[in-house]
Amino acid sequence: MKFTSLLLSSFMITLPLHAQNDPTQESAKIGESVSTALIQKLSGELKAQISQNGILAALGFCNASAQTLTAEISNTTNYRVKRVTLLDRNPHNLANTEESAILNAWQKKLNESQVLPAYEIHSKGNMDHYYRPLVINNEACLKCHGNIDPQSELGKAIKTAYPNDRATGYKMGDLRGMIVVDIPVIKR
Ligand code: HEC
Repeated sequence: MKFTSLLLSSFMITLPLHAQNDPTQESAKIGESVSTALIQKLSGELKAQISQNGILAALGFCNASAQTLTAEISNTTNYRVKRVTLLDRNPHNLANTEESAILNAWQKKLNESQVLPAYEIHSKGNMDHYYRPLVINNEACLKCHGNIDPQSELGKAIKTAYPNDRATGYKMGDLRGMIVVDIPVIKR
């Protein structure tokens, strides 16, 4: 009995220490907190805009501020963060080859009714790339990414701001894209 509790307590002490020294665990923590900060910032502002000023103003807000707010999170956390997608509204957010491969693999999982991972980390040289899926998990997303009548005021406003928009026609549960956080790894 005594021996077991000794063993247990030594596990309890060594496990968290080990986790702290594991660089991938560290990157997972950083990626989680930076991506959560971005989600909270964008969705908080978006909700406020929709409820206070309506959907058209909210669209104007995303158009004017999504990039700036994303850069702000990079500046305040010191980790480069971005949102990327296979079907872009803003071409600036188009996934590169490596990111597209991950998004395609996730899309395949969804098509096969598999659950997506909460995140993936790919290490390359001295950089860990943290990838977090962004799924349409809120009806509010569909207001601007669902089936939008091109003749409606909103449809026209989207077309004016983004003439080559490909980010409509989504439904609940669809993969919209992902958040990428670049985490430089000092020691490995
Ligand atoms: C008020 C309209 C509006 C709503 C509601 C909205 N979006 Fe967007 N979304 C936009 C606009 C505008 C952009 C382009 C922003 C830019 O210029 O960077 C965008 C871009 C994105 C992008 C970046 C990829 C791309 O296509 O440029 C993702 C990912 C995204 N939205 C996900 C979501 C999710 C998830 C929700 C629901 C929580 C949501 N959006 C709700 C208007 C909206």
